[in-house]
Amino acid sequence: MKISTRIGIVGAGPAGLTLGLLLQRAGIDCIILEHRSREYVENRTRAGLLEQNTVDLFNELNVSGRLQREGLQHHGVNLSFDGMRIRIPFDELTGGRCITIYGQQEVIKDLVKANLERGVPVYFEADATRIEDIGTNSPKIVYTQNNETHVLECDFVVGCDGYHGISRSSMPKDSYSEFVKEYPFSWLGILANATPATDELIYAYHERGFALHSLRSNKVSRLYLQVENNEKLENWSDERIWDELQIRLSDSGNFRVNRGEIFEKAITPMRSFMIDNMQHGRLFIAGDAAHIVPPTGGKGLNLAVADIRLLAEAMVTWFRKGNNDLLGSYSQDCLRRIWRAQDFSNFMTYLFHKQAPHGSFEYYLQRSRFNYIGQSKAQATTIAENYVGLKDI
Ligand code: FAD
Ligand code: PHB
Repeated sequence: MKISTRIGIVGAGPAGLTLGLLLQRAGIDCIILEHRSREYVENRTRAGLLEQNTVDLFNELNVSGRLQREGLQHHGVNLSFDGMRIRIPFDELTGGRCITIYGQQEVIKDLVKANLERGVPVYFEADATRIEDIGTNSPKIVYTQNNETHVLECDFVVGCDGYHGISRSSMPKDSYSEFVKEYPFSWLGILANATPATDELIYAYHERGFALHSLRSNKVSRLYLQVENNEKLENWSDERIWDELQIRLSDSGNFRVNRGEIFEKAITPMRSFMIDNMQHGRLFIAGDAAHIVPPTGGKGLNLAVADIRLLAEAMVTWFRKGNNDLLGSYSQDCLRRIWRAQDFSNFMTYLFHKQAPHGSFEYYLQRSRFNYIGQSKAQATTIAENYVGLKDI
């Protein structure tokens, strides 16, 4: 079957769903194709940290009712090195900006609901297999649903299909350069029915490796441990995980991790990935399809939403005024923020992960970098403003 719309969107992650709402608000028709089921995307555990910019956009789109009730606003973050802890106060250093902790799967539930209620078609279990004719004015997405092949004809295709999607590889190979950095460690992440032992996140360097204490609510903790790249989950009993978290998160006081039933456990590799062009012809790509950052800066979801804010504005300008300028500068406009986030995420990763023997030259450099945050308001401000998210860049 052949159908048509103005904008064909591949992927119902944060990027695709936010674009659907921005286009709907402007009266521009679109269709979102998602190869997983609704239940699957609404329950996929991922990020949890929303920058002020992201929350501001969700407020503007009227999709933040539950986020405002259930999200946890944090006005500072704790950084720890060998048990020594520093608090970075956002209020004081960023002029009152803050972050909100709210799980990505909750964001997805809110965005799916709003898209469907506002009449944006989201086709679940619709697998995009090819993107064609991007060099013409009527590009097409070929997709399969219920074992049938369909063609979606549109004015523009937007690839919001994540790192493993098909959109990036639908651009000609010579239209962009790739940059990849694989880190020699991974994260073992857990969700647990345990009252968080801290009100604000703790990022900790320990000679046994990095640990992060985050949370999802007053009853659910989210914690991570640095592990080897080839580590197997079966080597990590619940008891071993809690023991290790306790050791790595200990401080010079009496900090105790609260234990509880672990209901999710997963190992995620760490990678930085970039391409230097996010558009070819009538195909635009956004979010993880174009860039991956290691999660230490909490930037992945926020970058996806930031790309979409610019793309939606550019498309609305094109449809309303026939003006091509913003579409033409889309890549370059996004890349400034993305490179900044790449650098910050890489900086945070190297600051807190164990990558060299304890007591080596690299270890002392790492420790000196950490100490400097406590000694210099300028350095603390640099971290704070990158962490809460730069407003304009
Ligand atoms: P995605 O959320 O990946 O959405 C892409 C969508 O496209 C998916 O729903 C996918 O099913 C769909 N799709 C793919 N191919 C097709 C196709 N051919 N046809 C139709 N649909 C398709 N970030 C953090 O900041 N902190 C974290 O702790 C963190 N943890 C993460 C853990 C994991 C396992 C992963 C994978 C990512 C994590 N991230 C984290 C990153 C963050 O979740 C992403 O940056 C964010 O989801 C990007 O949103 P997106 O919309 O660009 O892509
Ligand atoms: C999370 O809560 O899952 C989280 C928070 C901060 C990060 C990464 C993950 O840097």
